[in-house]
Amino acid sequence: MKIVYLNASGQMGGAERSLLDFMASLRAADPQVALELIAGAGGAFLDQARALGVEAHPLLYPRALARLGDAGGRAHLPGTLGRASISAPSVALYTLRLRRALAAAAPDLIHTNGFKMHLLGAWAAPRGVPVLWHVHDYISSRPLMARLMRAQAGRCTAVVANSLSVADDVRAACGARLRVFPIHNAVDLRRFSPAGPALDLDRLAGLAPPSRPVVRIGLVATMARWKGHEVFLRALKMLSGDPPVRGYVVGGALYETEGSQCDLEELRCLAGSLGLAGRVGFTGFVDDAAAAMRALDVVVHASTQPEPFGLVVAEAMACGRAVVVSRGGGTAEIVTPGEDALVHEAGCVPALAGRMGELARDPALRAALGAKAAQSARRRFARERLAEQLMPIYRLLCAEAA
Ligand code: GLC
Repeated sequence: MKIVYLNASGQMGGAERSLLDFMASLRAADPQVALELIAGAGGAFLDQARALGVEAHPLLYPRALARLGDAGGRAHLPGTLGRASISAPSVALYTLRLRRALAAAAPDLIHTNGFKMHLLGAWAAPRGVPVLWHVHDYISSRPLMARLMRAQAGRCTAVVANSLSVADDVRAACGARLRVFPIHNAVDLRRFSPAGPALDLDRLAGLAPPSRPVVRIGLVATMARWKGHEVFLRALKMLSGDPPVRGYVVGGALYETEGSQCDLEELRCLAGSLGLAGRVGFTGFVDDAAAAMRALDVVVHASTQPEPFGLVVAEAMACGRAVVVSRGGGTAEIVTPGEDALVHEAGCVPALAGRMGELARDPALRAALGAKAAQSARRRFARERLAEQLMPIYRLLCAEAA
């Protein structure tokens, strides 16, 4: 069996980390399955896929396409501009090149990752080859994408969704006839584990080491606006200072898409105007997320909109951290509130500050939540599960197509 993956970005975002985990799991389960990856841009993602033994090559997006849409956030170009980009001649040309690349690769199945590749894959797939959309984000919050995907749903054989919540959204947006298989993500439990090296976050953020012990609380997220950086900073401001807390914003800008990112400088200014200078550090992008999480006492997830899955939450749990999670979305499917995580109302600064304060004051609560979280993660997020769930779907779709 040969699978060709189409991925929009070449950088490592959540959808890319997820896809790498699926590929790693498939390779371990059945080395006979050939895996090939075509990405719309070059970057670290391709290198990491190659390291797994996947044949990976970029087929570079034209500029109009690279800037269109929403891979990393909820923003999208306004209607007419978006439509203009999607129908630009360069996009038609790209579809043609992709069609050729796919014909040459001769896959048994095409697995697409990211909205733009769902559409392009559907347009470019050789006749008779099943197309599996792997959906990581809510479609209905992006009206243009929702319309385009609904229109192309007939060319999609089936969908994998990263949560039950996203699966429901796909059905609502694209019609109930589409087959949708929810598969939760997994994480590499050898990397994301309670034991292992920890980063010096103060040094990375350019902060002096604290003069007395502090509780370290960090938001680990891409810089998409809806990840709640502002809510986190305002919640930090509300903490009493007893015990002393140091906040960290871990992560940097990632995607090329317009309008979906918040600006690090803007956040620094906000931190300054809130009087947080010296009490919060900005590390920028870190390669080793596990080592960053192990350096934190509390990992905060503060998304202001429903989170489709929340890979960072799964990773932080696997690292045995005490996690505070925004209520709603797919994240609700992966935590048991009060047992392996604390939950706050999405976007509510006092609620988040309340949870952070509770954890800052109570080391025993942090330890208990962290231990339970590590246990839950081992049960829920082992990577072997991915191949166990995905292989039967591949086999079914290929058998139907034969
Ligand atoms: C997207 C979603 C995020 C999820 C990731 C992996 O980035 O926004 O919630 O964890 O994909 O599926």
